[in-house]
Amino acid sequence: MAGEVYGGGGRVLLAKVALVVLTTAASASAQTRSPEADTLRVFRNSLRGPGGDPPRWLNQWVTNPFPCGGGGDAPQWIGIRRCAGGHVVAIDLEGLGLEGAAPDLRILAPLQGLRSLSLAGNNLTGAFPDVSPLPALKSFFLARNSLSGEIPDGAFAALRGLQKLDLSDNAFTGRIPSSMATSGRLIDVNLSNNNFSGPVPDGLLRLGANLHVQGEFARHGLYVELGKGKYAAKSKCLMNLLYLFCYWYILP
Ligand SMILES: *[C@@H]1O[C@H](CO)[C@@H](O)[C@H](O)[C@H]1NC(C)=O
Ligand SMILES: *[C@@H]1O[C@H](CO)[C@@H](O)[C@H](O)[C@H]1NC(C)=O
Ligand SMILES: *[C@@H]1O[C@H](CO)[C@@H](O)[C@H](O)[C@H]1NC(C)=O
Repeated sequence: MAGEVYGGGGRVLLAKVALVVLTTAASASAQTRSPEADTLRVFRNSLRGPGGDPPRWLNQWVTNPFPCGGGGDAPQWIGIRRCAGGHVVAIDLEGLGLEGAAPDLRILAPLQGLRSLSLAGNNLTGAFPDVSPLPALKSFFLARNSLSGEIPDGAFAALRGLQKLDLSDNAFTGRIPSSMATSGRLIDVNLSNNNFSGPVPDGLLRLGANLHVQGEFARHGLYVELGKGKYAAKSKCLMNLLYLFCYWYILP
């Protein structure tokens, strides 16, 4: 009986030693710098909120040393939506009142794990930002801003794994960039409530992605070419190869 008690005590002691070793290792790694934190702080400094300074919500990016913690998978900063293995995977800066031009995305290029970026619901103006520095993005959300002008046809050429794209509720004009179709992985595209015109790129239709283009056809004559026919849609249109023929009518 007594032997068993001592045995148990021995195991507890061993466990305590192990815990001390683990804690020491953890605090040693906590003292190392985080290059991703440095990158994100430079990005923060490039952002402008309503008062002209970076939005105050992001002050925490300066005071808290690590964007990811708790074994590397728990986001520690506001606006960091997801982490994996100590790397930032998703940044969500939605509705922070960001103003001025869209930020320079080259700053984020060192974030090798970044797959999702949202700047939706802000007050960004000016041109579509160059997304080519972030070729690994799977999701990109810019909806509900005041961005305008034409998007270069090759804007998405570098983004081979893009799956979700939301540019709705801006003031983009001109043709839908054909490079949207080159990723081959696009699942959801929302271009509603812009001022796109011209044909829907052929490749985008063949991809069979869900393409949401509410408002676009009525405003500026966006159309779909199928064989020799030109087709427009009535009001709501969810465009997908399966649904295509349910929604289109022939243009006069
Ligand atoms: C965007 O900025 C304009 C001009 O400063 C302002 O009137 C408007 O309320 C802002 N919109 C949002 C969503 O912050
Ligand atoms: C697409 O964007 C419009 C405008 O923001 C929105 O009303 C609609 O719900 C969006 N569609 C999807 C499927 O997200
Ligand atoms: C978009 O088209 C509508 C209808 O033609 C027009 O009133 C509006 O000014 C256009 N907006 C832009 C940003 O071109």
